[in-house]
Amino acid sequence: MKGADLYDDPDFLAGYQRLRREGLGLNDELEIPAMAALLPPAAGLRVLDLGCGEGGLAQRLAVGGAVGVLAVDASAAMLATAVRHPRIRYRQSDLATLELTPESFDLAVSSLVLHYLEDFDGLVGRISRWLAPGGRFVFSVEHPVVTAPLEAADGRLDDYADEGPRQRKWFVDEVTKYHRTVSSMVGTLRRHRFQLAAVEEPQPSEEQVRRKPHLSIHRRRPPLLLISAGLQS
Ligand SMILES: C[S@@+](CC[C@H](N)C(=O)[O-])C[C@H]1O[C@@H](n2cnc3c(N)ncnc32)[C@H](O)[C@@H]1O
Repeated sequence: MKGADLYDDPDFLAGYQRLRREGLGLNDELEIPAMAALLPPAAGLRVLDLGCGEGGLAQRLAVGGAVGVLAVDASAAMLATAVRHPRIRYRQSDLATLELTPESFDLAVSSLVLHYLEDFDGLVGRISRWLAPGGRFVFSVEHPVVTAPLEAADGRLDDYADEGPRQRKWFVDEVTKYHRTVSSMVGTLRRHRFQLAAVEEPQPSEEQVRRKPHLSIHRRRPPLLLISAGLQS
């Protein structure tokens, strides 16, 4: 399962929402602060949030002064519980087929979504058209050292160069994620006129692990990759 099928599945959704509500994932401690550090000031920007889920990032950008946030997600269940804000518009759509007006955004963001997409190149190409000159694209994905193994059982890095789908158990059996190497993602961005501004691999501090012992595994291998890239004219 992937995309809307996954997040609309009641068993998966119950597990995912429990993880988020109880702060047991990586989001609050690692992903949200790392993403915030890469984002430009939102004031006056037209923002596109790709795979917005329940809208936490969209809300932070709207509160930060974005003139408007178009927040897109394939899952009706996620959008049903999404936080409301007068400058956020939600749209239910699969990113694989999403079409938007050229040059209508200044900032495109995506938190922990793009490893669910098979066609990264196609989406990056469309994002490059949706952004106005000087626009920025900031995203996080599961780190390729984590997505790489074809068999996740022993936790060792393996099969790194073999890009493509991986099946994992995560609340339900057979969750499909797509593994891509770092150089392939960077190459795709460059091909579509993006220039890298930052690459981050956040890991928890010792203090964070003391407070939240479930994070200890992430000191051994980076769980997240974040990239910020600017569109060249
Ligand atoms: C891990 S959640 C992240 C949600 C949000 N970005 C956040 O950080 O809280 C992944 C989200 O991606 C969405 N998603 C996955 N594949 C998608 C696709 N092909 N098109 C649109 N949304 C998708 C899911 O529905 C889910 O809301």
